[in-house]
Amino acid sequence: MGKTIIISNRLPVQLQISNGTIDAIPSVGGLATGMKSVHSGGESLWVGWSGLTDEETPAALENEIDVALKKHGCAKIKLTEKEIEGFYFGFSNRTVWPLFHYFSEYTEFELEFWNTYKAVNQKFADAIIEKSHDNDTIWVHDYQLMLVPQMVREKRPNTSIGFFLHIPFPSYEIFRTLPWREEVLEGLLGSDLIGFHTYDYERHFLSSVRRLLGLDVSFNDVYLENRVIKVDSFPMGIDYKKFASAAKKHDSNGKDSDLQIKLNSHKQSAPGTKLILSIDRLDYSKGIAKRINAFEYFLNKYPEYKEKVRLIILAVPSRSNVPQYQLLKREIDELVGRINGELSTVNWTPIWYFYRSLPFENLIDLYTSSDIAWLTPLRDGMNLVAKEYIATRTDKTGVLILSEMAGSANEMNEALLINPNNFEEQADTLKTAITMPEEEQISRNTFLQKRLERYNVEVWANEFMGALNRKSEENEPFISQKITDTILEEIQEKYAKAKKRLLFLDYDGTLVGFHKDPQKASPDDELYSLLDKLHSQENTTLFLISGRDKQTFTKWFLDKKYNMIVEHGVWISTNGEEFKLLEKVKGEWMEKIRPVLESFVDRTPGSFIEEKNYSLAWHYRNTDPDFGAKRATELNTVLTSLIGNDDISVLNGNKVMEVKSSNVNKGRASVRMLGEDDYDFVFAIGDDWTDEFMFQELPKSSITVKVGLKKTQAKYHVVNTKKVRDLLKLFA
Ligand code: ADP
Ligand code: G6P
Repeated sequence: MGKTIIISNRLPVQLQISNGTIDAIPSVGGLATGMKSVHSGGESLWVGWSGLTDEETPAALENEIDVALKKHGCAKIKLTEKEIEGFYFGFSNRTVWPLFHYFSEYTEFELEFWNTYKAVNQKFADAIIEKSHDNDTIWVHDYQLMLVPQMVREKRPNTSIGFFLHIPFPSYEIFRTLPWREEVLEGLLGSDLIGFHTYDYERHFLSSVRRLLGLDVSFNDVYLENRVIKVDSFPMGIDYKKFASAAKKHDSNGKDSDLQIKLNSHKQSAPGTKLILSIDRLDYSKGIAKRINAFEYFLNKYPEYKEKVRLIILAVPSRSNVPQYQLLKREIDELVGRINGELSTVNWTPIWYFYRSLPFENLIDLYTSSDIAWLTPLRDGMNLVAKEYIATRTDKTGVLILSEMAGSANEMNEALLINPNNFEEQADTLKTAITMPEEEQISRNTFLQKRLERYNVEVWANEFMGALNRKSEENEPFISQKITDTILEEIQEKYAKAKKRLLFLDYDGTLVGFHKDPQKASPDDELYSLLDKLHSQENTTLFLISGRDKQTFTKWFLDKKYNMIVEHGVWISTNGEEFKLLEKVKGEWMEKIRPVLESFVDRTPGSFIEEKNYSLAWHYRNTDPDFGAKRATELNTVLTSLIGNDDISVLNGNKVMEVKSSNVNKGRASVRMLGEDDYDFVFAIGDDWTDEFMFQELPKSSITVKVGLKKTQAKYHVVNTKKVRDLLKLFA
């Protein structure tokens, strides 16, 4: 087992230099605070940015910096001021952050930001490649590093790479507006496992992968040509013990901090008043301004609570070089000033506002002293503050009011959930919280605490790593075996020794790739020459076996005299003769079925009917993938009820549904050909569901090969049409 390498932009500590000495200050933000506990408990190396630019780092201190970081199990990536400007303040926080939090109006699409983002991601990737070995596990974090998995994969194809996104993944309708959307998806798909906080983010991601990259997705697996990527949701937990025991110690140690003394004196001077707490980074996604407005609304709606409640707002400075954050700072300063100015009395200031980062002990002072936590993000990937507040409530009292738009709301149903845009609801919920009986608070928090204690950050990390390790172990999630060099040699040897060979080659998706227009997927010169060679070999019977119509194959192959079976086994042509019927089939049913398919074409843009002699195929490759799949299910139901127990059946192919006579399929046709002579080498290759009939019905000793990574009855698989040709070239 190798080590785990954690990689993120933010390290758990930020370095600052004052008077020539280095200070390491704990980082704020869910990623750093959460992962810190995971990191300190294990054997991992954490690579990231130190918080200092190259320009801020005196050369003489380089060494000391490395030593300071090493103490925390960290190593640094060096970044210049210019890189931080374009990568961190630019693409990460002026493009991705607003876009992924549905603030399209704040999103800036700047080519220069994007170029720097790519270059800096490459820097991170290079550092990982340098610091890791093949058997290490790489865990990349968050939206600042979405290209890193692919960049590492290129150099380290066999390394196990996980990626976790700590912010929401937006709906396809939002994500599609990003000019570099494909590159970002491809970057992420360099991973083996991609994790999100919630199922909603996961499904938005999968939907973008299908629509923008046209990749196949089955449940939560994404199929690339030669790899399968797992996508799953893992809601991040907190270090429950750390918060719960800090709160216990806080209650019992008898030595109060200055902040706690101030909080106590407030409580003593105004007994019975309630403290409402909110803690966030100063970020527009957190809905701080709306919250302050909603507080004013509440005090006007329920004036009896004036002088009875106080709102404490703790906002941590964040990303202050980004213009939107500067505007927000000004807006909040003004709002707090105005409301306090208008409503304060001699004995009472409605809002206490702190704009700073606080040491852990003071966070605990605030959590344990507040009767209500009020968190109103407009969008939030998770929101750990909500979980931390509950964990510190040692006597189980306290009320959590939480926005539905936070990822954590999914797991915290016992909290009072609100829509942050609904002031009426918020005012009423505040009243409910203030008047909630203690037994009800205890009962709600008992549930919440149990869950948070059980699914803590350690369990979260173990679940992610466990899934990543299982993914790496099950390199072979398929029933079939990949054709290795040794297997190739064996097959080649059998081929050479065989006295009589029979080959069945499917066409589309096997010998050639798919094309939007099936007529354009015509054979190229290389394919002709390969087939010519095989066809002319002694003691070798080659069949092209396809669902195509006979006109097309006549045009492409008849004068080549290859043996052909088309329309899944209706027609056969050997030695350049005209096609003959192989099976007795009826076609009267077509008049009934055609109008049904036509109505589906009308209602499903991009789909079309392919009409063959004895079958009708409805193609939906060019439709919206979700919509096409939905319509296919609908069509299947309609057809099944229409055809009853008639002798026609419906075949579900690769983005095509085909209606044809039941007694026709590739399995039956291939077995008939097998009976014509005494073959000692039988080979069948195909990519599609319809080829499975051959794989099933040919004798066990046959060599059956599936093209692509899908579940199959075939013995072996190859990944793409190029590999098919390489394999056939060995026979030729
Ligand atoms: P985000 O990751 O968007 O900042 P989270 O609520 O998930 O939001 O995480 C915030 C983390 O930062 C929490 O672990 C919290 O304890 C910590 N934090 C928030 N405010 C402060 C503060 N003023 N001082 C120190 N730590 C803070
Ligand atoms: C969120 C992001 C983190 C980030 C944190 C603090 O939690 O998901 O990646 O580290 O905010 O933001 P900052 O820009 O200071 O790193």
